[in-house]
Amino acid sequence: MMAVAAAQKNREMFAIKKSYSIENGYPARRRSLVDDARFETLVVKQTKQSVLEEARQRSNDSHTESNAVPAVQQAIIQTQKSVEDKIEEIKTAEPIVKEPLPEPAVAEPAVQPKSAPQVNGKDAGLTEEEVILQNSMADDEEAEAAVQRASIVLRLKEGMGSLARILKTIENFHGTVVHLESRPGKTPPSQFDVLVKVDMTKQALLLLIRSLRQSAALAGVTLLADNSQSVKDPWFPKHARDLDNCNHLMTKYEPDLDMNHPGFADKEYRARRKMIADIAFAYKYGDPIPHIDYTETEVATWNMVYKNVKELMPKHFCSEYQQVFALLEEENIFGPNHIPQLQAMSDFLCRHTGFTLRPAAGLLTARDFLASLAFRVFQSTQYVRHTKTPFHTPEPDCIHELLGHMPLLADPSFAQFSQEIGLASLGASDEEIEKLSTVYWFTVEFGLCKENGEVKAYGAGLLSAYGELQHAISDKPEHRPFDPQVTAVQPYQDQEYQPIYYVAESFEDAKEKFRRWVATMSRPYEVRYNPHTQRIEILDSVARLDNLMGQLNLEMLHLNTALNKLKSKSV
Ligand SMILES: [Fe+2]
Repeated sequence: MMAVAAAQKNREMFAIKKSYSIENGYPARRRSLVDDARFETLVVKQTKQSVLEEARQRSNDSHTESNAVPAVQQAIIQTQKSVEDKIEEIKTAEPIVKEPLPEPAVAEPAVQPKSAPQVNGKDAGLTEEEVILQNSMADDEEAEAAVQRASIVLRLKEGMGSLARILKTIENFHGTVVHLESRPGKTPPSQFDVLVKVDMTKQALLLLIRSLRQSAALAGVTLLADNSQSVKDPWFPKHARDLDNCNHLMTKYEPDLDMNHPGFADKEYRARRKMIADIAFAYKYGDPIPHIDYTETEVATWNMVYKNVKELMPKHFCSEYQQVFALLEEENIFGPNHIPQLQAMSDFLCRHTGFTLRPAAGLLTARDFLASLAFRVFQSTQYVRHTKTPFHTPEPDCIHELLGHMPLLADPSFAQFSQEIGLASLGASDEEIEKLSTVYWFTVEFGLCKENGEVKAYGAGLLSAYGELQHAISDKPEHRPFDPQVTAVQPYQDQEYQPIYYVAESFEDAKEKFRRWVATMSRPYEVRYNPHTQRIEILDSVARLDNLMGQLNLEMLHLNTALNKLKSKSV
């Protein structure tokens, strides 16, 4: 539980906390998952910077507030004083601490070990890795005392002569050096850069780094985030219930905030939106999705779009969409005069592909939205667009979700493709999230595919937007074959119709290409979804691969048996 709490805290620390409204300078007028992701990257960077600044400030404050320290912290302060005494020694006599230190104190989470941030005019404050380390200690007392491996790069100003003293210092901090390598310094005044891997407790590590920073013999000390420090890895949901935490909203199109929103001046509409949004905020994993009594006005808006879709469908929509649409009408989930309830739709999807729905209060951040797809969960809005603009909405609404997305989520091949995008997003870097969002944009939202020599639409943004659909299938835009590597970096048009659309040979072909491209991404491990446990399995050890191999062998056995039975029937 401690580790979960620590991961949650880390996520909160670097998660998007700001309101993504136009007030934050986001200029776009139309929904775009890609721009959302780019904007998100920018704000995450800003947030990280402010977290680091805060931590530095706290470090400085703790340095100046030592007189007011509560009695319970005196023991810790004593230890810190010892460290500072050593630091003083470093400054005046020898460059490196010589005397053994007392056992590292048991730190009170709120207490920041002292640091002297300015050395030789340089900022010797906390790095991002150190802030994470420090916060993980505060969140997890067990982890604080556990010995872990860390990599530190030391930039030696005075040649290799000072290395012996540095190693002695590490020993004094109860660290064990397990690996050492050096190379000529890359930038002056460093003569040599030395990589040291040490085994030591987190607390001692922080004290050691701060101590080394004071050394005149060193031009720099950097704590690397390597594989052994999982605290640096981005948090992602491991179980379907973790999606309760994946509801960060982009509020830039909220009718309360965006003057251009058709509902901005409509008090009644805004109250309705708030009521439906509150349902999503209160929703927890395992709850049934609450029923909404849609008003006559809302049903009338649905009716207009529904008729439009029915008219366009036979000629322009892919056959997979049409098949599921017919099924939905058969089961009376789809019909012109009622808006389907999300729970009924979720049950339908679950029966066909295992996809389920969760209510979303609005436009989610790209990372949260994509992560839910990994669990075959689609986060769907439940409100209806403003009646003033029945054929256009600046944000997703349930008409777009239901008519645009849902039918294809019931198609096994498309469902698999959607899940693959989601799985690829787990643990991805911000830049990779942007690329995945771009791929999502040009496929799930605006994708075209070939069918009997003709180009058909399968993207939800096209299926629910008459104007863009006509443009997409005309000879005005360029049609290019879907290639994830190229598509992922394709700039797209935000204000007008796209000048380029990507055409997939089939969903199977798109999946195959996508898988090959995803394999080149930076994540150092593979993940898979276990539908029985609703858990993401990280395939990063021989034991886990062994487990998977056992399951695959069983599947192969079923396949072989089935083939043999077929053969014996045909003889
Ligand atoms: Fe969409």
